[in-house]
Amino acid sequence: MRNTILSIFIISTILLGVLVYFVPDKGTIILLVLSSLFTIIVIKDSFQTKHSLLRSFPLVARLRWLFEEEREKIQQYFIEDDLNGRPINREKRSVVYQRAKLQKDTVPFGTQHDVYKKGYEFVKHSLFPKDHHHITGEKIIFGSDKCSKKYKSSIINISAMSFGSLSKNAIMALNQGAKMGGFAHNTGEGGISPYHLQGGDLIFQVGTGYFGAGKSVDGKRVFDDEIFRENAIRPEVKMIEIKFSQGAKPGHGGILPAKKNTPEIAKIRKVPQGTQVDSPPGHSAFSNFEEMIVFIQKVRDLSGGKPVGVKLCVGNNEEIQQMIKAFSKAKNYPDFISVDGGEGGTGAAPMEFTNYIGTPLLEGLVFINKLLKKYKLKNQIRIIASGKAIDAFDIVKYLALGADAIGMARSFMLSLGCIQARECNLDSCPVGVATQDEDLVKALVVEKKNIRVRNYHDKTIQAVKEMVAAMGEDSITKVTSDQVFRRRKDEEIVSLEEVYY
Ligand SMILES: Cc1cc2nc3c(=O)[nH]c(=O)nc-3n(C[C@H](O)[C@H](O)[C@H](O)COP(=O)(O)O)c2cc1C
Repeated sequence: MRNTILSIFIISTILLGVLVYFVPDKGTIILLVLSSLFTIIVIKDSFQTKHSLLRSFPLVARLRWLFEEEREKIQQYFIEDDLNGRPINREKRSVVYQRAKLQKDTVPFGTQHDVYKKGYEFVKHSLFPKDHHHITGEKIIFGSDKCSKKYKSSIINISAMSFGSLSKNAIMALNQGAKMGGFAHNTGEGGISPYHLQGGDLIFQVGTGYFGAGKSVDGKRVFDDEIFRENAIRPEVKMIEIKFSQGAKPGHGGILPAKKNTPEIAKIRKVPQGTQVDSPPGHSAFSNFEEMIVFIQKVRDLSGGKPVGVKLCVGNNEEIQQMIKAFSKAKNYPDFISVDGGEGGTGAAPMEFTNYIGTPLLEGLVFINKLLKKYKLKNQIRIIASGKAIDAFDIVKYLALGADAIGMARSFMLSLGCIQARECNLDSCPVGVATQDEDLVKALVVEKKNIRVRNYHDKTIQAVKEMVAAMGEDSITKVTSDQVFRRRKDEEIVSLEEVYY
């Protein structure tokens, strides 16, 4: 094939050269220039030794690469229907955009879901629905008997995403939106930046890299009491979250790609700029349950008594049971546990960790809920659930299964204008949400997007209230797993209570 393509281009160029000699007009000259350029590429491709496909199919194989690279865009723009886009389908993405922009969020003609398909889920409504204007339960108090500074928060908060992973404009818009709507914004493991300090309530996350909470000693990241305290006592910080693991890459630790590690981010994290920053997989501050409990209490004390939680994706069940048992035995425990599902999002993760490690949210959430009940800690430890919560049904379902509040990351990214380009790990996010490229970041106008963040939160709370009202309850806190149903087999519908409890 190579020789054929080579011959075609060389002969065409020679013939065009002859033509230009006899008819030297603009058109023939342009054709000759183009043909010469393509011939040079064909010759180059034919004799390079790196890519065998290109050696066999010079120039032509480049088209395949182009389609391969743009495959996702072609899929999203031309092939994807409302329900098959991944990880977040178009129907869910659209509802976020509509609620964020206060656009019409009704759908015409009827559901597109196949209600007879295995796995289809729904809630049952009451003959006596309530008035959604009077539904309560959208706020919740965090803080067990171990903590002196309790925090009243919304049941929907922005889950952890760092400055580094997200742009400064994205962080500012999220924080300002949180301030407007009276909900909380989790800093992510990258520490507190000036962009987080826009007046919105913060959940200060302490990851294994201890950014903003520690330093490097002999190449090892270690927790530092004073560095942590300085940040934790800020008035904006309402709660602390110690990250054990994250659903998208449990047992791995955060990854900040080198391209996104700008001088400013390197300064905030106190790491060398322009290098890939990998947080360690585990904490250096503790190595067993007893030390873990001491660490949680230390963090609580250093913060001045603020609620302290731990974030994890359920892994080894036996270990987690041991942990909860240890909390119960010591009569000392975190104020909340954030359960992240294996389906959770990330800026960058190894493929195997994203696809094959970590318990999915429903099973993880139910497992933690059962353990808290078993060890009589359910009234002390709140559960925050995160994992593709986008619309009111997702939220009601997670609350029904035992969550007290919901952490949402990617849906808030969508509210900022994310188009699911899936380039968060490349620094080329075309809408300026998950990049540090100054030109792209500028495109995200904080003063417009902060309102969308607030709107999305508020409209989603409203949608939750409407759903709960239709179910005949007067408070969001009253939904239970026997009110949510799933088609398990062709002719069998079961409640999630039967499935999980
Ligand atoms: C861009 C991005 C960055 C994230 N950064 C962090 C992080 O720093 N710490 C963390 O615990 N989780 C992080 N996460 C995970 C989210 O906090 C959340 O647990 C997960 O995405 C599930 O929520 P979602 O399905 O609503 O996105 C990140 C997620 C995304 C999409």
